[in-house]
Amino acid sequence: VPVATKPDPLQPNRAHVIRVQRLPLEINLFQLRFEDEELNLSFDFKPGQFLMLSVIGVGEAPFAIVSSPSRRGLIEIAVRQSGRVTTALHNLKENALIGIRGPYGNGYPIERMRRSDVLLLSEGPWFGALRSLRWYILDNRKDFGQVTLVATADDAKDLPFGDELSWLGDREDITCRVCRPAARDAEGQDHMARLIAGLRQTKFVAQGTYAVLAGEPAHFPPLWDYLLERGVSKDKILFSLQRKMRCGIGKCGHCSIGYKYTCLDGPVFSYWDAQNLPEVI
Ligand code: FES
Repeated sequence: VPVATKPDPLQPNRAHVIRVQRLPLEINLFQLRFEDEELNLSFDFKPGQFLMLSVIGVGEAPFAIVSSPSRRGLIEIAVRQSGRVTTALHNLKENALIGIRGPYGNGYPIERMRRSDVLLLSEGPWFGALRSLRWYILDNRKDFGQVTLVATADDAKDLPFGDELSWLGDREDITCRVCRPAARDAEGQDHMARLIAGLRQTKFVAQGTYAVLAGEPAHFPPLWDYLLERGVSKDKILFSLQRKMRCGIGKCGHCSIGYKYTCLDGPVFSYWDAQNLPEVI
């Protein structure tokens, strides 16, 4: 009697790198495609989710998806060369075979966010981290309330995806403000101070608004304080954490923060979670 075997959740699907584009800060944008054409069309995810990508013979690592599920069939990740897998990935040529499993993680609560106003707040190079959500919102613009983007940048052209800021600035359905920090500041304090100053100059109604932050978590507290003071609710202040993920499915324990797993309970967390998980920053 044939025994039905369950699909192995750790088994990657065969895929290829189909395009590589160089971005500022030595980041490469990889466009990926599954070998199975049906999977390309059915692959769905939420902004904020990640996938596990394996380079054959080297290893596997988690990467946030920076394209939007509203562009079906397009899967993109932005990778900075920083370790074994990312270096191997940077050395791959177009058409190279890779493995992909996922998507994993909770992603942004886009269903709950519908009809709400949204603040998209990013510090310097983290602008790219909100690309999936930003595209998703713009592709489904009617489903959301007022959308305000505040980003800090020494120079937008030096940011990964910084070129998007110019066309975003031309759109009438999104308020877009780019703030230049007064000085380069390793602590990031100036970026946060500028972000808050930029936010002060924009009109937003705090009640019911989702504030999505992208930056170095250690820099968040002044921004959190400002948002809370303005009346944004604790469960609507969101940010994403990248933590030592290995299996992606809650099995290895590598990504734990207190009693939570980044791969299952995150990577998107709220200020409310941060209060209960002091290791977040
Ligand atoms: S990555 Fe293994 S438990 Fe989260």
